[in-house]
Formats: sequence, C-alpha cells, structure tokens
Amino acid sequence: MDAFRFPKDFELGVASAATQIEGGDTNNSWYDWACAGHIKDHTNPFNANDHYNRWREDLELMVQMGIRHNRFGVEWSRIEPEEGQFDDEALSHYRQEIQAMVDAGIRPLLTLHHFTNPRWFEQMGAFENPRCVELYLRFTEKIVRSVGDLVSEYITINEPNVYTMNGYFGGGWPPGKNSLGAYRTVLTHMAACHIAGYEMIHRVRREMGCNDTRVSFANHLRVFQPLNAANPVHRVSCWFAERAFQEALSRAMCLGEVSFPMKHHPAIQKGKWCDFHAVNYYSRSTVSGLADGIAPGVPTNDLGWEIYPQGIAETCRMLHDITPLPIYITENGTCDNTDDFRSRYICEHLKVLADSGLPVRRYYHWCFCDNFEWLEGESARFGLVHIDYQTQQRTVKRSGEFYAAMIREGGVTQEMINTYCCGDYR
Ligand code: BGC
Repeated sequence: MDAFRFPKDFELGVASAATQIEGGDTNNSWYDWACAGHIKDHTNPFNANDHYNRWREDLELMVQMGIRHNRFGVEWSRIEPEEGQFDDEALSHYRQEIQAMVDAGIRPLLTLHHFTNPRWFEQMGAFENPRCVELYLRFTEKIVRSVGDLVSEYITINEPNVYTMNGYFGGGWPPGKNSLGAYRTVLTHMAACHIAGYEMIHRVRREMGCNDTRVSFANHLRVFQPLNAANPVHRVSCWFAERAFQEALSRAMCLGEVSFPMKHHPAIQKGKWCDFHAVNYYSRSTVSGLADGIAPGVPTNDLGWEIYPQGIAETCRMLHDITPLPIYITENGTCDNTDDFRSRYICEHLKVLADSGLPVRRYYHWCFCDNFEWLEGESARFGLVHIDYQTQQRTVKRSGEFYAAMIREGGVTQEMINTYCCGDYR
C-alpha cells in the first residue's frame, strides 16, 4: 500500500453507543435480554466501560489522541425511566458531558436511539406499537430542548434494519420475534419516527435561534453478492436481500418513497429527510438463499466477517445514487481481539474512501474503546483503546496510536504504513 493524504474537508472521529459503554443501567431491554441468558459470554451491559462515571477520563484520552469528532448516544431509559417521567439528573449529566466535550474542541454527533429501549417502552411493544412515533418524538424533543444549543448534528435512529432484522426476523435480539409482518411494521414505524424526528429537530432548533442543524439516520449497509453469479436462485436472493434489508429503507428514510417491505404511514411523505448520508459499513454478504454467508477463502476478522474494503465506497455510491448528499461514515471498524490488523483495516478502508471521488466528509471509527458488543458481550473487541473489564483500566492500543498519527498528519505516510499496517487478516 502507498502513502496517501485525506481529501480536503475530510475529518476523523470516533463512535460509540450509550448502552455499550455506560454501564450501571438496569432499566433497558438489553439488560433484561442479558439477564435472560442470551449473551454468549454471560456478561451484561451493567458492567460495560463504566463510562457514565468515567466520562472525564475518556474525554481526556480523546483530547490526548487529537480527536475532534465524537459520535455518541444517550440512554433513553435513563432520561425517561417511566413513561412520561423525565429524570432531570440524567439530562443534566448529559448536558455536563456534552459541554465538556465542546469546551475541549470536540464536535458532538448525537445518536438518539441505538438498539436499546426503556423497559416500559419494550413492554408496550416498542416500535411495533403505533404510539411509538408520539413517544419517540416526546423523548427526542426533551433532549433537543436540553442540549440543542450545544449539539447541531443528530442521528435519529441507528441501523433500523439491523434492529428490526435481529429482533423481529429470527436474529436472536430482543424481543426475539420471527415474523415478516412485524418486521415490516417496525421498519415502517422507525421510518415514520425518523421523518417526524427530522422535522421536529429542525423546528425546535430554529426556535432556539440555531440554523445549522443537520439530521440523518445511520444506515447499516452491506455489499451483497451472489455466491454463484450463474445461479438464478443466488441472483434473485441477492437482489431480494439487498432490497428488503437496505435499499427500500434508505429510499423511505431519505426521500419518503414507499416500496416493499415498507408500508404506507401518514408520516412517510415524499420530501428530503436527511441532511447527510450516515453510513455504517463493516462487511460483505455472499448470498445463496435467505441466510447471510461468507465466500470461501476471503480474509476475515475475529468474528468471521469478511474484510472487503472496496465495499465502503460501493455502499456509499449506492446512497449517492439515491440522492447526492455529503457522506459521513458514522461507523466502520472490526473485531480484532489482539489488535493485530486493525490499523491495516482502517488504512485500507480510508484509502478506498480517499480514492472514491465521493463527497465523504467524516469517518467515525467504531469504536473508541472496547465495549459491550451485544450478543458477543465483552468477548469481541472493536476499540482503539483497550478496556480491562475487571479494573476498568484504559490503554491506548497500537491502532489508537496509528489513529492519532493519522489525525496529526492528515493522512498516512509510508513510515506509518510500515510501522502499523503490516498485520495479517485471519
Ligand atoms: C452497531 C454497533 C455494533 C457494531 C459492531 C453496528 O451494527 O451499530 O452497535 O457494536 O455494529 O457489531
């Protein structure tokens, strides 16, 4: 690989999600799911990184690494522990943390919903219940009124397709359903929440005198390829998987266009409902039937996911063709438990972006610190910073040093490639 510089107006940041790092909350759907025994290593998000108490230390580390952009989330179940009851302490906690972030020169990108629900919301059917739009909006408005002067950029919902596929189509996430009807309803309601949320965030911030609002939702995008391109079943499955998992949803959430598997909903009207494209990209799926697969002999990470750097531009181009907007990579990263190849992975994905000619403005690495990785628990490490879950000690990894060097240099030098990027994929 050769040295390269980042394009003009392109900046690096880091990403995380509240439930995966905060610890200490027992009032959410993933805590209950963990207690019901679904996590592979029997850990649960009550431990996580104790970030809720140690956020100052984490912020200090970001500053030391030169990080200027932080995508992070707030925990709905802390802010609204019971339906309609808002916790002022939790709101002021987040305000204090965000104020410190801004004071440190780090720009926040705030995720409002990232997979986890308050228990009361989960018990009423969460996004399957038509009331979700009104409830999501009330919660969102509360946050925007509380920190809107400090935060101009928002992600309404993280990866509706992953949430819905895993929770409502047999993926083993809460609430553990398996129904195409529920899958379609939940996706549709999430699109409705996003569009109504988009309008509300813009309106509320305008009322606060702020005109620089940018809102999007985080797309989980994969590349789909048929296992055997000559096999019509593989080709049709591939087309169907791409459409049912991501394309129809992207069109509905960006432009209000409704097609299968989305359903009609009064809030989903034609319009422009994203100010930027937010892309979470990890891997490619090789399709031969309904299940996801991996082609034989491809490089993989520690979870067996294919490493396919070109896909980061292919997926961005798919969105760019739907409608051209500035692109933020809101997540990209890999499970590399020993930090052998993470730097190489990052470097290869960034190089593809730099060469793509697409209007990519930000890259938020997933993740800043190792964290609670949903069904994998603490066993899958995605961080630039190592967490010792017993002592909660943070240690910057080699990939974290590489990341800091890239921020300093505005690109990757040959020396950095030789020093950091020679690890082998699995
Ligand atoms: C999610 C993160 C998750 C990451 C790695 C993304 O789909 O948004 O919460 O940790 O993938 O699995």
